[in-house]
Amino acid sequence: KKKIAVMTSGGDAPGMNPAVRAVVRAGIFLGCDMFAVYEGYSGLVKGGDLLKKMEWGDVRNYLSYGGTNIGTARCMEFKEREGRLSGAYNMIVNGIDALIVCGGDGSLTGADLFRSEWPSLLDELIETARLTKEEVAPYRHLTIVGLVGSIDNDMSCTDATIGAYSALERITEMVDYIDATAKSHSRAFVVEVMGRHCGWLGLMSGLGTGADFIFIPERPPRAGKWHDDLKTVCKRHREKGRRKTVVIVAEGAIDDELNPISSEEVRDVLVELGLDTRITTLGHVQRGGTAVAYDRMLATLQGVDAVKAVLESTPETPSPMIGVFENKIVRQPLVEAVRLTKSVATAIENKDFDRAMSLRDTSFAD
Ligand code: F6P
Repeated sequence: KKKIAVMTSGGDAPGMNPAVRAVVRAGIFLGCDMFAVYEGYSGLVKGGDLLKKMEWGDVRNYLSYGGTNIGTARCMEFKEREGRLSGAYNMIVNGIDALIVCGGDGSLTGADLFRSEWPSLLDELIETARLTKEEVAPYRHLTIVGLVGSIDNDMSCTDATIGAYSALERITEMVDYIDATAKSHSRAFVVEVMGRHCGWLGLMSGLGTGADFIFIPERPPRAGKWHDDLKTVCKRHREKGRRKTVVIVAEGAIDDELNPISSEEVRDVLVELGLDTRITTLGHVQRGGTAVAYDRMLATLQGVDAVKAVLESTPETPSPMIGVFENKIVRQPLVEAVRLTKSVATAIENKDFDRAMSLRDTSFAD
């Protein structure tokens, strides 16, 4: 019987629970023994109770829970070879050689590194007499499958990451609330949204709420000029009769000289324009809460496909990442997706913003 473990890693995202549920149930349905690794990679490193066999009923009601019930972590130990060695040991003593990781690009990079090192980790476990040759023999091939769980929608090779639409929905709702109070007082609000180095949440929430101005890293405004541009646009909107001003600032916002743009700086410009201005940093409310229907569906379809990908994998198959492209669930080489994701950051560092924008997923392109 194939033994497969599922884990959530990195920042939690709505839809991670539905993904775990789908993986566990699809695995059981297809005749596998299913395990959950609790607390992300820390669970793999520590083993023991953190590696738990999962039954059908263990994931009951998971569709409607936010966050991740099996816990997550940004684990430092797994970044060291010693941590990965313990991880390999704990997997083998539990008879597991397939891992489905739901996380962002950092977590998936870690997973792929684990796979590439696997043969040498096994050799070291034998050399250091932690396991015998015979014990290790059935586990020579490690299967890794990635599910992308992140509110940021920052992964290449997929149109949507699990959690992004839930966070977007939450932001949109919050900005609607802000609109009501802003309009009442004829005020301006600077709303800071998450997304790390990716502007998807900022751009889409700005579009969805009709913001006056949006700051995102991939399309930065001109250094030394944007203060005036912001004033001109907001003034024009006011002159047309708008009683509120809403500016969305993605947390990774920069100008085209790569200087960070803070909400405070934006507020000060709006104050100079004569507007009574407040800052609202939405923070972790964007990440908590239950998943919207789209994320539940995406997580379920992708979770099932992740189990199928494990069962179809051979030592020659590159580790797949399950994505969605033009509404179809697709498998992409994990290494390539991570490489392209990193190249967006490089393009931004090189001030090649057109390239950064075009490297983002299709729904992002201008
Ligand atoms: O990656 C998800 C995310 O919420 C980012 O948008 C944000 O930059 C970061 O995680 C916040 O991390 P933490 O929860 O560790 O403060």
